Amino acid sequence: MAETIEASLKEQRRFEPFEEFARQANMNDPNVYKRAEDDLEGFWEELAGNIDWYKKWDSVLNWEPPHAEWFTGGKLNASYNCLDRHIEKRGDKTAILWEGEMGEVRTYTYRELLDATGRFANALKGLGIKKGDIVTIYLPMIPEAAIAMLACARIGAPHSVVFAGFSADALAQRMNDAQSKFVITCDGYSRRGKVLDHKGKTDEGVAKTGDVEKVIVVKHADNDIVMQPGRDIWWHELLGSAEPSCEPELMDSEDMLFLMYTSGTTGMPKGVVHTTGGYMVGTHVTANWIFDLKENDVYWCTADVGWITGHSYIVYGPLSNGSTVVMYEGAPDYPDKDRFWKIVEKHRVTIFYTAPTAIRVFMKWGQEIPAQHDLSSLRLIGSVGEPINPSAWLWYYENIGGSRCPLVDTWWQTETGMVLITPLPGLTTLKPGSATKPFPGIKAAVLDDSGNQVAGGQGGNLAIQAPWPGMIRAVYQDEKRFIDTYWSKWGVGTYFSGDGARQDEDGCFWVLGRVDDVIKVAGHRLGTMEIESSLVSHPAVAEAAVVGMYDELKGEAIFCYVTLEGTAIESEELRKELVGHVANEIGSIARPKGIVFADDLPKTRSGKIMRRILKAIADGTDVGNITTLQNPEAVEVLKRKLEEFNSGLG
Ligand code: WTA
Repeated sequence: MAETIEASLKEQRRFEPFEEFARQANMNDPNVYKRAEDDLEGFWEELAGNIDWYKKWDSVLNWEPPHAEWFTGGKLNASYNCLDRHIEKRGDKTAILWEGEMGEVRTYTYRELLDATGRFANALKGLGIKKGDIVTIYLPMIPEAAIAMLACARIGAPHSVVFAGFSADALAQRMNDAQSKFVITCDGYSRRGKVLDHKGKTDEGVAKTGDVEKVIVVKHADNDIVMQPGRDIWWHELLGSAEPSCEPELMDSEDMLFLMYTSGTTGMPKGVVHTTGGYMVGTHVTANWIFDLKENDVYWCTADVGWITGHSYIVYGPLSNGSTVVMYEGAPDYPDKDRFWKIVEKHRVTIFYTAPTAIRVFMKWGQEIPAQHDLSSLRLIGSVGEPINPSAWLWYYENIGGSRCPLVDTWWQTETGMVLITPLPGLTTLKPGSATKPFPGIKAAVLDDSGNQVAGGQGGNLAIQAPWPGMIRAVYQDEKRFIDTYWSKWGVGTYFSGDGARQDEDGCFWVLGRVDDVIKVAGHRLGTMEIESSLVSHPAVAEAAVVGMYDELKGEAIFCYVTLEGTAIESEELRKELVGHVANEIGSIARPKGIVFADDLPKTRSGKIMRRILKAIADGTDVGNITTLQNPEAVEVLKRKLEEFNSGLG
């Protein structure tokens, strides 16, 4: 609510494109929108020319809603497009510039990255991994993560990257769903100066899977670990004995490039399937036009490779553009709160892409911190992952961008693969808090539940009404879920994003956050149902309801209402135990901010828990009409408990 008011207050502010920036921008032709609208296929076909193909496609688009095929019949390889094709022109240019948390720096030129990728690809083949085998990558922010992804792409083995911060259980769940028999992990990595035992966590996860054949281990932190003979192999030993040259597999445009698990509205995350041709065209051109990538840019996206942002805008988008990509291993406040700005200054970063939560944290730490550093190398800044409130936008624009850099607020999702709503920095008038306009060729709309366009700036559901190249092709082995989740609200031709939005009089979109049971905690995507199933798996818990509670810094925080089993007794210890239980089962990003014990949860007469009311109670907003509840008295009890909880926090 506070956000909406803030938005309308600041809505008047507008920032026209900087003339000088516009003049040199990769995309500065205002007719591009119309061109794309008039001939969608022709538009994407022309852009597909920026990708190298072994064989040209037979048709640009086959759209049999909700199934799309892009560049059908075309043959290409994603790793070729990210590596080989750059060698002649920029073989000695830095491709990856990695900085560890302890300050160590490692770089890979394009030639070195190709060499490492080729060797690792050969090593994977040597282990018997072939086209179509799903390889799990469970690595932190180290160059080997990108190399592993590219090597998989090279041999046509789809990767499934699992965020390193996820728990052993989460790893097992994803490996089991994908029937993945291979996992690439590391010994440990550094977080706020502490070495985390990542191999131990991997072993625990692997023990809960069926028949994992090989565990490949990167030696990174040099911590003591146990290698299981026959199953575990060191990365460096594999690489040392492998040939560097590996012919890229000729992949069909619609062959799977990767699988990425993401949270939805059930307890089990779904495997979002992305294919090769359309995804490469989509990420290549969006990276080029939105970030305005130029030969001399030093581009830094602070996302983790374990999320879609890391896939599309650390690896495939920027590398297919031949950019220099910065990767940072650690925390933004280690050893001090100025770590990010130190990195920008030291490596002369020109393009910086981060999440609103980070910006709000920097705001809280104070503008003096970035002010101590020379950020004059920056020429464009971006935001992704959650709605950015106008005051955070303005702070970012002024204090990081020096009121000199275009700020691109990019809206997209794991499922969309590529950015869909965004300013084009050489063309678009910016409005703090709005992701502005659909990318050329993207048909976005705000629809009510019956599918009518919502007018007059009112809120509704954000829908996409035409296919786009980077779109989700399937939920892995679950066609029903694919259709039910995305293509059934208004019919099979219209994509339901799960987000609420409104469109202002200039046609700019204001994304309001999720309308389903997905929450965004510090930009991390989580399903309330996943957290509920985790709570209910604890013997003391009979029933649980989880909601996203408004949080000034994280956007949303996890708040849980828990009904205990008959014999269990409420206590502070139990509360802590449950918080720890969830963090253990899912990962510390899912650690609840609060748990309130409730004998009774507000339910409809048919017994459905009213999460809308629980969210209002948590946020302290109006609960609305509760007379139709089976147990309206439960609401007052919970409100009192919330007051107690909040006074405890204060
Ligand atoms: C949210 C992240 C507002 C949104 C790339 C979406 C945003 C979900 C923005 C997808 C933005 C992402 N403004 N909200 N610029 N970008 N979101 O799959 O709720 O991790 O549905 O992909 O993040 O999260 P995901």
